[in-house]
Amino acid sequence: MDQIGRRKDEHVKLAEKLYQESSPNDFDAIRFVHHSLPQIKQSEVQLGTSFSKLHLETPFFINGMTGGSTKTAAINRDLAIVARETNLAMATGSINAAIKNEQVKPSFQIIRKMNPKGVVFANLGAEHSLENAKIAVELLQAQALQIHVNAPQELLMAEGERDFSHWLENIEKIVAHVGVPVIVKEVGFGMSRETIQQLKNIGVQTIDVSGRGGTNFAAIENERRADQNYSFVQEWGQSTAISLLEAASYKNQLEILASGGIKSPMDMIKAYALGAKAVGLSGQFLHLILSRGVNETIKEVESWKESLKTLLTLLGRKNISELEYTDLVFYDPLVTWCQARKIDWHFYAERSALKKTDKQVKRNVAEK
Ligand SMILES: Cc1cc2nc3c(=O)[nH]c(=O)nc-3n(C[C@H](O)[C@H](O)[C@H](O)COP(=O)(O)O)c2cc1C
Repeated sequence: MDQIGRRKDEHVKLAEKLYQESSPNDFDAIRFVHHSLPQIKQSEVQLGTSFSKLHLETPFFINGMTGGSTKTAAINRDLAIVARETNLAMATGSINAAIKNEQVKPSFQIIRKMNPKGVVFANLGAEHSLENAKIAVELLQAQALQIHVNAPQELLMAEGERDFSHWLENIEKIVAHVGVPVIVKEVGFGMSRETIQQLKNIGVQTIDVSGRGGTNFAAIENERRADQNYSFVQEWGQSTAISLLEAASYKNQLEILASGGIKSPMDMIKAYALGAKAVGLSGQFLHLILSRGVNETIKEVESWKESLKTLLTLLGRKNISELEYTDLVFYDPLVTWCQARKIDWHFYAERSALKKTDKQVKRNVAEK
């Protein structure tokens, strides 16, 4: 096995070793204000969402993870079966491995083979050229391409990238010419509004903020190091909740997705309420597939869909975009962050007043 294949196996092993069923998460610092009269029928609730010119029936997906070795091919196969049976979109891990070594292409292609009609996102790092981006899309006949930005991870990897000077130019070229929608994503370190503005300036339209709170690549790469000298970087980055607050002012200009530490329908619904059009799960899917197998993972996905409908009904909202009119109260560390970054956290606590009821809309139309 080559060096990249070994690394991919180590990532899977360490992600599962460090996985925590209930790790503390900034989503815990958010509460919905409960209102006692939902005023809708559960049968009216729809889970569908749209981004990257795609309509998805389910607003969560299997996020970019793996490929590049025999073991990871089997994981991709099993996850692709789950995606097919539950109608979820699925991203591959970085296709860098197949670009460097043609022999491992099948470990990625298995995803398309298992799920010929499904929505698949190819994945590549921002160090890659437009030419490689086209190869990645072609390999999977992908409907969209994820470009990951992972500077902390690269710097902690003994064998990692040290030159980040061309990332923005590479992304700009890829977005303009690759021929499919591009999703720029972090890998668990979150994003700031300054980063989001830089990406917007070069034409990026869809961003997965992928924040801290779940899989921690600072911890994983430190474990892989011979010296294990970088334990002090483990808290680096913005949580997913904070990253969504940073992204909030772009809600009408960009499509914002969320990932990082999302494990349950309650985490998901909070992410949608903070503006995410869809959420990605990696560590949680990896854990489910390795510990419980394909059939149990399928059952879990179906139960999440039902739970999301229950939560939407409880909140009196017919779809996830209406969640922008829910009232959210923040606790620390979110309040401190909002104060420091001049984010109006009071606004979130009284947003339901902004929602026009169907009756009001009809009355306004009639008055016109
Ligand atoms: C084993 C493993 C491998 C990963 N490899 C990639 C990758 O190749 N490309 C990428 O964009 N993200 C990769 N990620 C990062 C995830 O897509 C995601 O951004 C991050 O894990 C945070 O989400 P989580 O807490 O749900 O795991 C990987 C995650 C895991 C667990």
